[in-house]
Amino acid sequence: MVENKHVLVAGGTSGINLGIAKGFAAAGAKVSVFSRKQDKVDAAVAALGAKAHGGIADVREPEQVKAAIAAAAEAQGPIDVLVSGAAGNFLAPAVAMSPNAFGSVVGIDLNGTFHVLRFAFEHLNKPGASIINISAPQAWVPMIAQAHVCAAKAGVDMLTKTLAMEWGPAGVRVNSLVPGPIEGTEGMDRLLVDKSKKQALAKTVPLQRLGQVEDCADVALFLASDAARYVSGVVLPVDGGWSLGGATIAMGQMFS
Ligand code: HXC
Ligand code: NAP
Repeated sequence: MVENKHVLVAGGTSGINLGIAKGFAAAGAKVSVFSRKQDKVDAAVAALGAKAHGGIADVREPEQVKAAIAAAAEAQGPIDVLVSGAAGNFLAPAVAMSPNAFGSVVGIDLNGTFHVLRFAFEHLNKPGASIINISAPQAWVPMIAQAHVCAAKAGVDMLTKTLAMEWGPAGVRVNSLVPGPIEGTEGMDRLLVDKSKKQALAKTVPLQRLGQVEDCADVALFLASDAARYVSGVVLPVDGGWSLGGATIAMGQMFS
């Protein structure tokens, strides 16, 4: 269903976002990615195959984002599917965060998402385009040492809902995909400081296992597909039920 469609993944050069990009590439899409680091972009493009395009941009910089998206559209055509997933995170209590520390995460996760969607809009293949924002359980589960991410991702989900309303009449669907604890990723590595607690963490997930990047990729493919043609403004967890309560238990374990 996505064969030869243009899929642009902002922040698509590692972890979950790269896993999503690979899922679309395996389904025959023309995939474009961009992020800050040239070595990561080069490796991702090599992994994504002959139809891949790579660019460099920091999502906090509107002009860089605008240029990277325009270059992707020039190289691969109008954008059918836009995935916005660039993010930053570190563990720090609010009193240990400088304004720049708080602002750097909000700048990447929230402002960055706005920049990506705002400057992609004119390049979307309308009607019919699908936008997927990558959110996090922190958007609605308050977590200690995560004030920046909680605030930023809550904002991302409200952008999803607001723009689903504003852009629905143009035939653009906007949804959030919310990964749970996904194994082997930078995000989990930064939060699970004590690696011996990995099995205990998995037990806080109702489905009793950590997620895999492929779990997220498959749901992204669904959200982008015609099967989801009447789905917009949704915040969809891909977390084995973790956000029902396990996320709160897990955060207690991580800091005890
Ligand atoms: C307090 C910290 C800090 C820490 C950085 N800062 N780490 N403050 N505690 N542990 C402060 C710095 O001192 C600085 O403030 C400000 O944050 C910006 O730091 P820089 O290193 O200059 O910023 P930059 O190079 O732009 O890097 C941004 C970053 C970095 C967010 C700090 O970690 C990054 O690039 N992350 C990208 C990769 C990543 O985080 N992936 C995981 C995503 S997972 P001052 O005042 O000193 O200038 C995720 C959710 C996971 O999002 C959910 C799992 C369930
Ligand atoms: P990751 O591997 O660190 O992925 C982050 C990506 O964003 C990288 O490709 C990175 O590349 C890029 N990026 C970071 N800052 C950027 C910036 N300022 N401008 C442009 N690109 C930038 O992390 P991950 O753990 O897989 O997380 C991916 C997404 O899933 C994030 O949105 C995260 O919030 C969400 N999530 C993750 C988990 C989890 O378990 N890991 C759980 C819930 C939600 P460069 O370094 O080259 O810029």
